[in-house]
Amino acid sequence: MTKRRGSAAWSSVDDLQRSLRDHRYLADRGLATALHLAVSLERPLFLEGEAGVGKTETANVLASILGSELIRLQCYEGIGVAQAIYDWNYPRQFLAVRASEGTEHHVSVDDLFSWEFLVERPLLRAIRTESRSVLLIDEVDRADDEFEAFLLEVLSDFSITIPEVGTITAQVPPVVILTSNRTREVHDALKRRCFYHVIPHPDLEMESQIIRLRVPEATASLAHDVARAVAGLRKLPLTKSPGVAETIDWTRALSFLGVTDLRTETARDTIGAAIKQEEDLGVALEALPRIIGADG
Ligand SMILES: Nc1ncnc2c1ncn2[C@@H]1O[C@H](COP(=O)(O)OP(=O)(O)OP(=O)(O)O)[C@@H](O)[C@H]1O
Ligand SMILES: [Mg+2]
Repeated sequence: MTKRRGSAAWSSVDDLQRSLRDHRYLADRGLATALHLAVSLERPLFLEGEAGVGKTETANVLASILGSELIRLQCYEGIGVAQAIYDWNYPRQFLAVRASEGTEHHVSVDDLFSWEFLVERPLLRAIRTESRSVLLIDEVDRADDEFEAFLLEVLSDFSITIPEVGTITAQVPPVVILTSNRTREVHDALKRRCFYHVIPHPDLEMESQIIRLRVPEATASLAHDVARAVAGLRKLPLTKSPGVAETIDWTRALSFLGVTDLRTETARDTIGAAIKQEEDLGVALEALPRIIGADG
């Protein structure tokens, strides 16, 4: 039988779901279960989903619930060891050598390539911290294959070898969340190490509730109208569908303008909060009367 380990911060999936809500994050049962298992069984969680569905925010909120430090590694094309794991502080090394010139304190190569001159980057930091951190490896699909191979190594045993100073193994493995927008397929080997969960766009009811949580000043009726309008927009052939982030922004803008029920004209005037691509504007504007008018 598997020993139950993990977080004292919640006792069950329901309990975690409540905590997330208390932190103004609405997770469906699938996501709450994935988080519960990842934390309890100490497996990285690989989160996929379109832009703005709440992938990054999941890690932020989880860190708050656990009372842990959030350590974020933002991936990008060309990221490597020097940005993700460690680097040497060359200016300091240079100064140390300069300062020792003409004195009897000769600085050796070993002195220069020691902890004193090492610059810690997010992965090393997550492995060295004494209390459990939440490590967010954000938008891993933007990094290249080579970097994925590094990650795979680090995530398989939570240890890092720095040739000049030795191997560092995590005393307390971090909670790891990887996110991807699927701009590129991430290798199976990396996914195999992780629990995998796709965050879909929320359904109408859930999106209204997210709006109520995030924009409490909006009326229930406005929250409902915006959720419905966004759901309608998502059905259109857009190059970029609005995410939850856009839904929230749009409601905030409308609420600021004193809107309590969404009408086509107001929606048209404020559409820039939801649609961010010029080529999508025409399609969206044309469809608005149909999307908004449908409930009379
Ligand atoms: N389920 C949710 N409950 C509450 N707020 C949410 C939820 N999903 C998204 N949000 C809100 O939407 C915003 C955008 O979410 P987030 O940045 O996490 O999306 P993302 O999936 O990481 O997007 P991207 O792929 O563009 O990075 C968050 O700041 C949060 O306020
Ligand atoms: Mg994100």
